[in-house]
Amino acid sequence: MNCSIGTDGERAAALIRGGGVVAFGTETVYGLGANAFDASAVARVFDVKARPRLDPLIVHVAERGDLERLTTHIPATAERLAEHFWPGPLTLVLQKSDDVPDLVTAGLPTVAVRVPDHQLARQLIVLAGVPIAAPSANRFGEVSPTTAAHVSQQLGDRIDYILDGGPCGVGVESTVLHLAGDHPLLLRPGGVTQEEIESVIGPVQRPVAAASDPSGPQMSPGLLSRHYAPRTPLRIIADLSDVPPEPCTGLLTLRPVTASERFAAVEVLSEQGDLREAAANFYAAVRRLDDRGLKRIMALPFPEEGLGRALNDRLRRAACAE
Ligand code: TXA
Ligand code: MG
Repeated sequence: MNCSIGTDGERAAALIRGGGVVAFGTETVYGLGANAFDASAVARVFDVKARPRLDPLIVHVAERGDLERLTTHIPATAERLAEHFWPGPLTLVLQKSDDVPDLVTAGLPTVAVRVPDHQLARQLIVLAGVPIAAPSANRFGEVSPTTAAHVSQQLGDRIDYILDGGPCGVGVESTVLHLAGDHPLLLRPGGVTQEEIESVIGPVQRPVAAASDPSGPQMSPGLLSRHYAPRTPLRIIADLSDVPPEPCTGLLTLRPVTASERFAAVEVLSEQGDLREAAANFYAAVRRLDDRGLKRIMALPFPEEGLGRALNDRLRRAACAE
């Protein structure tokens, strides 16, 4: 039986305090939360998602001051970025304190932290009185949820409650920035763009190890392998002239296209080609195509700038099994 969906922050907080697992809306995607200091509650999060334990979780806090207990050192770059982008879709990876269970960080000496830009999510954290460790509320490797109904479909029978924060406004996951080494490293492009980050702290680097090489150093294990993927095979095409005449094919595109009658289904993410609007619609559109029983989904790439980088990253991972 599926758990209930509602907006009762007190009930959700009481469940978290009691070691429960609660999904909650944020501005990026829905999270699957547990008390970050309770290793057995966190273990349930991994089990519910079927997530490998080598893939660490993001710890969600209500305000910048909550960082002190989780970290041993807060670099000046982190202070400046927190000031600019928190609350918001930026996750900072910092040296972890002993209070954070190893399970949360998958044994890494660092912890990933962010302050969600969602009033109900922050209220939940305040009422629970503890930081909340939460990955996205989908089964491992599958499409991330941007509504309470998405969570209910995938995980509703395995969790305690879904705190309905409405549809996610940003729609792609937070940017993950590693600040515990010599240079800032952008581990995952996301809701705060690389350009925005660089305007505050100067140039950031991308990890050099190929994301597809599992033998390389696992700076951020979640970057590896197929991820964010629909069941229907997804292929990225450079332009529409590359499309073979195949029946039962769907198209995912930023803007309207002229050849849309060649496809069994078309999802246009933004009539005006606006990347913010496209990001907010992205996962729901992928799900709708996935639910049509198509043979294949074709996707046109996004411009490689701003939120387009995060969207291209998700497309590449969704397509990588092909
Ligand atoms: O927007 C988001 O970030 C959403 C919402 C719920 O906050 N959460 C999310 O969590 O996307 P998840 O588990 O799907 O992705 C977390 C990412 C993974 O790529 C993971 O490897 C990375 O953050 N990560 C977590 N802790 C890390 C650490 N200590 N060092 C490096 N990467 C870390
Ligand atoms: Mg995820």
